[in-house]
Amino acid sequence: MHDDHELARLVGKLDLHAKVRLLAGGSVWRSCAEPLIGLRALTFSDGPAGVRGPGWDERRTSLALPSPTALGATWDEELVGRLGGLLAAESRRKGVDVLLAPVLNLHRTPYGGRHFECFSEDPLLTARLGVAYVRGVQAGGVAATPKHFVANETETDRLTHDVRVGDRALHEVYLAPFEAAVEAGAWALMSAYNGVNGHPMSENPLLTSPLKDEWGFAGLVVSDWGAVRTTVASAVSGQDLSMPGPWGPWGDQLVSAVEAGDVAESLVDDKVFRLLKLAARVGALEGTSAIEPPVADESLLREAVSASTVLLRNNGVLPLAPGLRIAVIGPGATAPRVQGGGSSGLYPAAENSLFDALSTRAEVVHAAGVRIDDRPTPVDAPVLVRVLGQDDEVLFREHRLTGRILETEEVPGAAVLEISTGLPVTRTGLWRIAVAGYGRLTLDVDGVRVLDVVQPVDTDDPAVKHLRPPHHSVEVRLTGGTEAELVARRELGEDSGMASMLAADPPPPDAAEELAAAVAAARESDVAVVVVSTTDAIESEGRDRHTLALPGEQDALVRAVLAANPHTVVVVNSGGPVLLPWREDVAGVLLTWFPGQEGGNGLADVLFGDREPGGRLPTTWPGLESDVPVKDYLPVAGSLPYEEGLDVGYRAWAARDVVPAYWFGHGLGYTTWHYEEARVERDVVRVRVRNTGDRSGREVVQVYLSRPDSAVARPQRWLAGFAAVTAEPGQSVEALVRIPRRAISHWAGTWEVEPGAFTVLIGPNAGVTPLRLTSENALRPW
Ligand code: BGC
Repeated sequence: MHDDHELARLVGKLDLHAKVRLLAGGSVWRSCAEPLIGLRALTFSDGPAGVRGPGWDERRTSLALPSPTALGATWDEELVGRLGGLLAAESRRKGVDVLLAPVLNLHRTPYGGRHFECFSEDPLLTARLGVAYVRGVQAGGVAATPKHFVANETETDRLTHDVRVGDRALHEVYLAPFEAAVEAGAWALMSAYNGVNGHPMSENPLLTSPLKDEWGFAGLVVSDWGAVRTTVASAVSGQDLSMPGPWGPWGDQLVSAVEAGDVAESLVDDKVFRLLKLAARVGALEGTSAIEPPVADESLLREAVSASTVLLRNNGVLPLAPGLRIAVIGPGATAPRVQGGGSSGLYPAAENSLFDALSTRAEVVHAAGVRIDDRPTPVDAPVLVRVLGQDDEVLFREHRLTGRILETEEVPGAAVLEISTGLPVTRTGLWRIAVAGYGRLTLDVDGVRVLDVVQPVDTDDPAVKHLRPPHHSVEVRLTGGTEAELVARRELGEDSGMASMLAADPPPPDAAEELAAAVAAARESDVAVVVVSTTDAIESEGRDRHTLALPGEQDALVRAVLAANPHTVVVVNSGGPVLLPWREDVAGVLLTWFPGQEGGNGLADVLFGDREPGGRLPTTWPGLESDVPVKDYLPVAGSLPYEEGLDVGYRAWAARDVVPAYWFGHGLGYTTWHYEEARVERDVVRVRVRNTGDRSGREVVQVYLSRPDSAVARPQRWLAGFAAVTAEPGQSVEALVRIPRRAISHWAGTWEVEPGAFTVLIGPNAGVTPLRLTSENALRPW
């Protein structure tokens, strides 16, 4: 390992041009190498729910973890740490040095498009899980990159909106998880696209203070992709590396700015020093080597599903008795949503659905009941991709496995990208054939041109431009039993993005017949399990949600199935909150989040009672859309005020006395608990709980504080600590909940602690706290 002195010596060997070159990417996913000092390029990859690796290619699959909301629901740092080890092993397998994860932004509102990528609505829970994630990844020799620093909770106008947030909320709520991750030793950190209080985060004073000065962050500040948009302002800030590259506003312009005296060369040196320090840590500098990751333990993926599944309601139907005939209903039962949309997306190594998993263990029938996604379905069959030159000469060709081609070989002189396939026509009727991408798009079906449009580039957002560009479709009558020859072409321009798509959807089945089949299946079975889902377009980077209602006719499906069979259990397959208007009527409700590739098996473990549903809500679920406390998630004229201040999530619900459908922290498991007694010993709350059910279980004991007589404004209650215990039936156990000093501190330019008593509220969720310690039993500053 190189010490700082040696790294500084290496910086000194480089001239200004060489140093500045290192500060921008060498390509989309790599930094630049510098042979003069033995530096190889660093490879970056998106997370957080797996390691896609550099580039998008369906032939290079990845282990798919549950969404961060699911990891948030585990309230289990040990498990998240082990998953971090798995991610390190995946990174190494894919040649990745720097994992762009975890996401430490908060669930400020359930409408946030990237809600599913964040752990929780609470800063303490987010901080503790974030620290576990960072430590787990880095213990395997791979850099974690907490992102997006800071206040990146909205996707609308995400490249430019400016968050207006008060100093207290900024420090106590939004910066807090990042501060914890820095204290835990994060090697890198990503600055956000958005601005905070008037400055884009890629050039924001917060990168210096508190990040580098007060917190002593010694790692590398990586920009979000394309976020650096100025030369001098960003270079004089704490921003270190501008990704991707080699294009962008640094390069020669930064060299000139240094030569003109607008940017001190010492700032450039510091950035290069930080890059080399990171390179030394991951073994990218000659003479250094990275720590070896642990051997990947894939069984963790299944364990994580049951550990994160939240049982919201159970009238006794769960776990399912053996020998039942089960109707598994909903499109998500056979085609689960394993991940959300956007840059965190990857190609899962394998996938199992609930239907697959149950079929091996019980008599199961399936009916979709409804359709929920009206987006075109990329051709799910081998296609031929050709890159053509100006005169249609073939510059490159390859066979691929899907009609959604996000990246292919970059070839000089490329003018056209063509995707073609022989589509097996399974049904006679009007098929919808679609193409997507920027530039001129054409589509030929059986040699006839059926579409010719120009799609102008209308965005700078990489999540739209390179991942989900607009599509154009036509309806074409095809005859069952034949093969249709589809040829889609896209003319490539300078700026026309990477993504191309060829999609084909058969004539849809009759909606009434589909529903009737589901109802009949439910009626003829002992139990109906309905899987309701959102889509990865609804919960996606690059856009916010505009309603929390389930898409399509899924509510009607649940009601129809319930009318046919009272033993109806609903499994909610979404990354974040959705409205469940029938929740009090059904026999059981389980949340499976976006569960990753082991979703089906993990859920079957829970349904059959092999494992208990271990999850507790990391975010409050509203009953009615009109009750949601923080709804101003849309910037107005570029500005987004965080007017609720400290009152995020359950804090806002508690302050307004409005009861949500399910409180933060709620989750039933398969046993019951009695909160017997508690006492405070300095900074530890000792809580005695008894397992009053008839099977062993794990309980997450939560400690909230409140301060009714406070001289400073405070949330009505706030999470101050939690600890999990396990107990056998009838056993009473003690949870030791340590309260960090930060939980009794408030920000007033510095951290201050108000003298006097803090009331301690203890219970299984933010709204149910059966134990309360006040006056002489209360917590006092130690
Ligand atoms: C996202 C980041 C991501 C980056 C690279 C950006 O659009 O905001 O989270 O790491 O792209 O894919």
